[in-house]
Amino acid sequence: MRKYPSGHQARAELEIDDNFRIGSINDRLFGSFVEHLGRCVYTGIYEPGHPTADQDGFRQDVINLVKELGVTTIRYPGGNFVSGYRWEDGIGPLEKRPKRLDLAWHSIETNQFGLHEMAKWMEKAGSHEFMEAVNLGTRGLQEALDLLEYVNIPAGTKLSDMRRTNGREKPFNIKFWCLGNEMDGPWQIGHKNAEDYGTLAAETAASMRMIDPDLELAVCGSSSHSMESFGSWEEAVLQKTYDLVDYVSCHAYYSPSDGDMASFMASGVDMNAFIKDVVAVIDATKARLKSKHEVNISFDEWNVWYQEAEPSKLPEGIGNWPLAPRLLEDSYSLADAVVFGDLLITLLQNTDRVKAASLAQLVNVIAPIMTEPGGPAWRQTTFYPFSQVAKLARGGSVLKPKLAGSTYWTAKYGNVPEVNAVAVRGIEGSITVFAVNRSLQHPVRFEVVLPEQEQVSSAQAWTLHDDDINARNTLEDTEHVIPRANTSLIRNGRKYNLMLPSVSWNVIRLI
Ligand code: AHR
Repeated sequence: MRKYPSGHQARAELEIDDNFRIGSINDRLFGSFVEHLGRCVYTGIYEPGHPTADQDGFRQDVINLVKELGVTTIRYPGGNFVSGYRWEDGIGPLEKRPKRLDLAWHSIETNQFGLHEMAKWMEKAGSHEFMEAVNLGTRGLQEALDLLEYVNIPAGTKLSDMRRTNGREKPFNIKFWCLGNEMDGPWQIGHKNAEDYGTLAAETAASMRMIDPDLELAVCGSSSHSMESFGSWEEAVLQKTYDLVDYVSCHAYYSPSDGDMASFMASGVDMNAFIKDVVAVIDATKARLKSKHEVNISFDEWNVWYQEAEPSKLPEGIGNWPLAPRLLEDSYSLADAVVFGDLLITLLQNTDRVKAASLAQLVNVIAPIMTEPGGPAWRQTTFYPFSQVAKLARGGSVLKPKLAGSTYWTAKYGNVPEVNAVAVRGIEGSITVFAVNRSLQHPVRFEVVLPEQEQVSSAQAWTLHDDDINARNTLEDTEHVIPRANTSLIRNGRKYNLMLPSVSWNVIRLI
């Protein structure tokens, strides 16, 4: 990145150059995640008796917001939850389904919602694709094969016929699978070392492919970039699984540490380095094994998450296993939404290797959509960057960012660009630029330089900003922070420029 000398007004410039493309955007980049955790399912997407619930108990107010959000795949049913889950508990007549302890979240799981309900909900909420996770914590190979037989075999076997008896004639035809969840994490039920997990994942992948060779499988990478075993975990696991899998799962959550907001605003820098590091291990393994097979990244958990704060404290006590407790219900500020938008930009910038991603999570649990039991549903600040990118970038190609601009200093990452931005060329010829101003200090004048021959008949810009970086949307004030037209956009020949307020998320649409 070119730096501007200090003493000048903060500036950044993005040159649009169609000759340098990163790649076309996979629809799966706009996935999300529904875990049996807190109120994501119960009183989130599923609340029989709610004034907007349909005959299946699905909240229509939530379905409408999910449609507006524009999510594609849904990762299900966990998360840490899956490592103790018996999938058979969630099928068959509701009244026969057992109540179980959910050890991951110290709650009661009623199993009133399971595989069939999830599939039905996805059909109603906009034809999403399943990303189904198997339990490699308390269970293993046989149960994964049973689940696959149940969901993908048309008929004529014990488990496929059981599915038909349970009301689903046609197979679910689930192609996209996670081989466990965060198996490197000591908190994971059935946590394993890399050697043991690699062996189990390889056996499970090979056997699952004997049932359905067309599956796409994601193997667990490190549960964060900062894990002590990061790198060596990926190396050991890929050594055993490389030719059997298609994706390495990456997970990353960000929050300010010790009040260091400057570094927090630059969290995208870490996500970018994380992706490059994982790609390096993937490609080194490919070279070592002399493989022709390609493995990419599924960034299947990403978000801002205040893990140490009150909402993430688990219930405690042998007699205390609440039903759908309020857990991980982070309320997101403007600053959080800008970091979130920067993470989205970073995913787009790596679209050549990040072929799938899941925003963790969808409703109530570190989520863009919040609900009150019996009450309304509303959009958090983070809703807007996601919905705008999903709507305006889907189907397009990401151009290599030729970005120059002023920088600021952070304790964690040294000097970082104040503005991060990316341009997407739509199939219909539009250009959409997504940009964040990470600076806590000042606005930045941002210029988009178009190719020589570019014809533009309409130019619009929207900005998500508030003078208070802690501003948020709440039950009492659901539309406090919303994107507004940025009227500073002006044209000067083949350049468009506008002011990006400090701590802001911005979209520039040129058609
Ligand atoms: O998304 C919340 C939790 O974060 C998931 O259950 C787990 O996989 C991760 O640690």
